[in-house]
Amino acid sequence: MKNDVKILAIESSCDETAASVIVNGRKCLSNIISSQIDIHTLFGGVVPEVASRNHIMAIDSVVNLALKEANCTLNEIDAIAVTYGAGLIGSLLVGVSYAKALAFATKKPLIAVNHINGHIAGNYLTYPELTPPFICLLVSGGHTAIIKVDEYNKHSVIGSTLDDAVGESFDKIARVLGLGYPGGPKVSREAIGGRTDLQFYKSNPSLGFNFSFSGKKTAVINYIHTLAQRGEEVPVKDICASFQHIAVEELATKTIAACKKYKQNKLVLAGGVSANKQLRERLQELGKENNIKVYLPEFEYCTDNAAMIGASAYYSYIAGEDIADMNLAPAPGLSL
Ligand code: KG4
Ligand code: ZN
Repeated sequence: MKNDVKILAIESSCDETAASVIVNGRKCLSNIISSQIDIHTLFGGVVPEVASRNHIMAIDSVVNLALKEANCTLNEIDAIAVTYGAGLIGSLLVGVSYAKALAFATKKPLIAVNHINGHIAGNYLTYPELTPPFICLLVSGGHTAIIKVDEYNKHSVIGSTLDDAVGESFDKIARVLGLGYPGGPKVSREAIGGRTDLQFYKSNPSLGFNFSFSGKKTAVINYIHTLAQRGEEVPVKDICASFQHIAVEELATKTIAACKKYKQNKLVLAGGVSANKQLRERLQELGKENNIKVYLPEFEYCTDNAAMIGASAYYSYIAGEDIADMNLAPAPGLSL
């Protein structure tokens, strides 16, 4: 029977070189991720040029390993999918060039995937029964948005950050506290047992469904610097717990309000910050109170991976959309 669609997906938008084989957008046969975290930790954050060089070194073996682990040959693959934006130009270029060459050599269709649609689709792998429409809270290193997903790979933005993304704020606060990179998991670990009531700033209630994290981040950093300059002890645990609390409350309450306003009873979490335990628990709690079913991606589909890219690509493939040719170019600033 040859009704199954097998997609080989490639992701290299930031500092993870990843490849995966996905069947019918829902079943993951392999999910290989070569992370560069150890390399970038030395610099306290991602160095774009270093990232692209490491993608070049890793990509061929990562793709071969994904095929091998899926017990699958290139012949059995129906299409090649690749993230073409948003992300770092040099990093995207490696995945896009590799995928183009592979599609050209094997005469297979090439599918261009928006990284954000990928994050959303990570949930289709976790929940085989999940179908649009739904409200998605997208929280990553580069994006923070409430999105209404109307159909597969089709959505409208209800609200988004006016400045920094929430993941980026976690990373910057962690850096100032000397906790290392990536900051989200480190801040979240430090937050355990910390006080959540430090007041860094006055909140701005006029943003509607939009967010602003730049002011919050700066207020936290100023607080840390002021204490340090005075020679006073910096309460790292309390700062982490309080910032996390503020961020989680704002993200969770606005997303629930959006579900109510748009009369949606399905809420889907996506993006790297969806690994945050506090955010997951708070959404579930508010979901229960408001009769909204909350979908949380499995941890392996939270941060960047290629399985989610393959899941999104399947829906483009069957719709005959996003089919790219040899002119496909990376789009670092691709919008939501
Ligand atoms: O989606 P992702 O892997 O890359 C982008 O597309 O940006 O997200 C990475 C972001 C980083 O900012 C990282 O600090 C954050 O996700 N992150 C977390 C946690 N795990 C990763 N933030 C808060 N809590 C976590 N447990
Ligand atoms: Zn991402």
